[in-house]
Amino acid sequence: METNAILEGMLRRKSIREFTAEDPTQETVDAIVRAGQQAPFAAQLGSVLLKRNREANPFHAPLLFTLCVDLHRMERIMEARGWERAMCDLSALLLGIQDAAYMAQNMVQAAESVGLGSCFLGATPYYADRIVEAYGLPPRVFPLVQLAMGYPAEDPPARPRYPIDFALFEDRYPAFDRASIEGAMDVMDAGYLAQDYYRSRNAMIRLEEGREEEFTYDSYSWTEHISRKLGQWGKDPNELLRALRACGFDLGAEAKANQPE
Ligand SMILES: Cc1cc2nc3c(=O)[nH]c(=O)nc-3n(C[C@H](O)[C@H](O)[C@H](O)COP(=O)(O)O)c2cc1C
Repeated sequence: METNAILEGMLRRKSIREFTAEDPTQETVDAIVRAGQQAPFAAQLGSVLLKRNREANPFHAPLLFTLCVDLHRMERIMEARGWERAMCDLSALLLGIQDAAYMAQNMVQAAESVGLGSCFLGATPYYADRIVEAYGLPPRVFPLVQLAMGYPAEDPPARPRYPIDFALFEDRYPAFDRASIEGAMDVMDAGYLAQDYYRSRNAMIRLEEGREEEFTYDSYSWTEHISRKLGQWGKDPNELLRALRACGFDLGAEAKANQPE
């Protein structure tokens, strides 16, 4: 496989959840956010909020960025040009999520290049109301994801990923057989177990009532962890639809929650 200093850096990257007491300078923050802005965009629908409050920030990070899908700003520009939005909110949201997400990942990479580490926080949309209030967000701005950032006070190994032949499908999507599924599961589970990842973070997801726990931290690993998330969480789409509606995004009618048969 081809390699160079940038690729090596990308393969070494890992989420950082412990930070030193050093505060990044304004020059550093500006460089990171400018690099974020330079990500490919559909319509520059991403905005960045910043809070420097170690006491309140997750992981006591010196910087907490909140990446928002921002239709407000573009619609002000359209207004200035005498245009009204015709695009439905689902289309606008898909574009905005991409703009904000690519921006966020550029910021992660830029931060790495100047010695900072970071960690995303994905529950952001579920407490969007608090962010709206704290930052005085106008309607049509939706907090998508947060990014805690600072100088690393830990240096864990890079976390495993699926083997490349389980991620790259040239010409045709494969019919996975049991052996290829189990092979990929083994790579992920053995990799996370070797790092004692879930035990060290005490991060086992509890089972819903009626299911019996079969795992200890000697056996609990990534595929079970993610299965528990997707198998138990986020059943009711209305929670997010309501959060979006409160921010002025209307994705249509109330939807039915997933219920196990
Ligand atoms: C959308 C998103 C949400 C995430 N949310 C959290 C979170 O709430 N808490 C956390 O500790 N890590 C969170 N992470 C970090 C992931 O756990 C991490 O990226 C993943 O385990 C892979 O590890 P690595 O980044 O060290 O390679 C999130 C990552 C993404 C992309």
